Amino acid sequence: MKTTRLRQRAGILALAMTSLMLAQAQAAQEGQALLESKCVGCHIPEGGDAISRISHQRKTPEGWLMSIARMQLMHGLNIADDERRTLVKYLADKQGLAPDETEGVRYAMERRLNTVETFDEQLSQTCGRCHSGARVALQRRPAKEWEHLVHFHLGQWPSLEYQAQARDRDWLDLALAEMVPELAKRYPLDSQAWSEWQKARPEAKVLLGQWAFSGHMLAKGDVRGVMTVSADTGDTFKVEVNGQYADGTPFVGGGSAILYNGYEWRGNVKIGDTRMRQVFAALNGEMKGRMFDAEHDERGLDFSAAQQGQARLLAVQPAYVRAGSEVELTLVGSGLQGSVQLGAGLEVVKVLEATPTQVRLRVKAAATAAPGRRSVVLGDLGGVDLAVYKDIAEVKVVPAFSIARVGENGGSTPKVQGRFEAEAWGRDDEGQPYRIGYLPAKWSVQPFDERAREDEDVKFAGQMQKDGVFVPGAAGPNPQRKMMTNNAGNLKVIAELEEGGQKGEGQLIVTVQRWNNPPLP
Ligand code: HEC
Ligand code: HEC
Repeated sequence: MKTTRLRQRAGILALAMTSLMLAQAQAAQEGQALLESKCVGCHIPEGGDAISRISHQRKTPEGWLMSIARMQLMHGLNIADDERRTLVKYLADKQGLAPDETEGVRYAMERRLNTVETFDEQLSQTCGRCHSGARVALQRRPAKEWEHLVHFHLGQWPSLEYQAQARDRDWLDLALAEMVPELAKRYPLDSQAWSEWQKARPEAKVLLGQWAFSGHMLAKGDVRGVMTVSADTGDTFKVEVNGQYADGTPFVGGGSAILYNGYEWRGNVKIGDTRMRQVFAALNGEMKGRMFDAEHDERGLDFSAAQQGQARLLAVQPAYVRAGSEVELTLVGSGLQGSVQLGAGLEVVKVLEATPTQVRLRVKAAATAAPGRRSVVLGDLGGVDLAVYKDIAEVKVVPAFSIARVGENGGSTPKVQGRFEAEAWGRDDEGQPYRIGYLPAKWSVQPFDERAREDEDVKFAGQMQKDGVFVPGAAGPNPQRKMMTNNAGNLKVIAELEEGGQKGEGQLIVTVQRWNNPPLP
């Protein structure tokens, strides 16, 4: 009886193993079959695997998801959620971007919605006024496909010609005659980076194991710990996170992740009661990117991780020390070993803890320690800076410019908060400015200008909390406001350092909900 059961089990296990090995090949077959069953009909087979339009573009997983979702919304494509997931995976692997091709524009995937973009004027005005310029820069196409895209835009939204930055010029002519060749040159379908990446692309299994991580969430602080990645089917993983914030709050949870195109890591983990997304580039034993609250993407942390077996120093937390003080510093990384050197004037009083992923030190900074940034060295490892400061020359509010949004009040859209930190800057002995780091501050808001003062924006737009988190007002028209307007506002954000009292200023626009919120802004 028992042996039969065991045998049956073994049989099932063996089956599961084979199906695991087949999963990859099957996923590809399934992807191609889905393209043929779901897309051909509107899209035309061109011989071999090629299909009109679809085969002549490369983009990110989010880019593919948006294109297919658009086919559903605008053209009535019928596709189940799991079929769409299979197709996104297939297309993102087959026609993705090389890591280099995403550099400088990953903020769109990472949902850093306060980013102020720096494209040239022509691209910003022609293409970057309804959506981010990054949405454009995260695609690769030949001239013909950029041209189709321009025609699709005008056909789909004919009123675009009458809008600002189009009614004063011949938008269509400029888009076709100037933008199309420029885009085809800047973002071409074929590139050396892509052909090289396809050859070098590592398999998902290289990511298995332990990862030491370091991060920072605005208005919350530093975080560190270890993430454990184990295999699931195909290019998916199980993920366990075990860490804590510098203030002791646990940062513990687990979930799953998927790897697209050999390096685009997308995770879904639950940390405490909060569902968080991970958008990382996983390359050469390092993961880098952003981890954010799925419902509140403004609550996110910069994240970097180093894989076990790759000796690497990731961070020192905190990354500053005041001359004449004694503090606890934590070095975070993987494969940590050897002696610490912090340079002249800094003395390690005691090693409080030393593990391969974190080294905690009690450090004394002499009153005469030179102000400025210096390298931290641990054994053979470096690449991390520590700032020593005496006086604070300047305080900057981070982010310098940001947007919060009203919400709730019976509506479906949550409030989008503002989150701030006070970044202190010093001057070294040569008079050169250097970044010290985020220091504790008192927070307040003021009207940004006369208009804001008259409209009483400070009263209506929301509340600045003690911790640098701004909670905007309720959604909808407010009968108490002039012309029953929304609780929008234009505010100056003021940080006053707890120690020393220096001040810095930023700007916060409080505005209405973002109704259209696609994966790529
Ligand atoms: C009901 C018809 C229809 C179906 C089915 C359909 N498409 Fe499309 N597709 C279109 C039309 C029309 C366009 C051109 C206009 C546009 O871009 O919306 C298009 C354009 C595209 C583009 C180019 C978009 C761009 O940004 O330039 C992509 C990519 C695409 N489709 C992918 C797909 C995929 C993948 C499928 C199958 C899962 C699919 N389509 C199924 C009608 C369809
Ligand atoms: C009038 C506003 C507007 C302008 C101007 C505009 N776009 Fe768009 N664009 C849109 C909208 C709306 C979508 C569809 C978004 C969605 O699917 O949620 C879109 C989608 C896109 C996409 C994704 C298409 C896909 O299916 O993959 C790309 C790429 C893009 N635009 C590039 C451009 C370029 C290049 C220009 C300049 C030539 C431009 N856009 C100008 C509004 C605009």
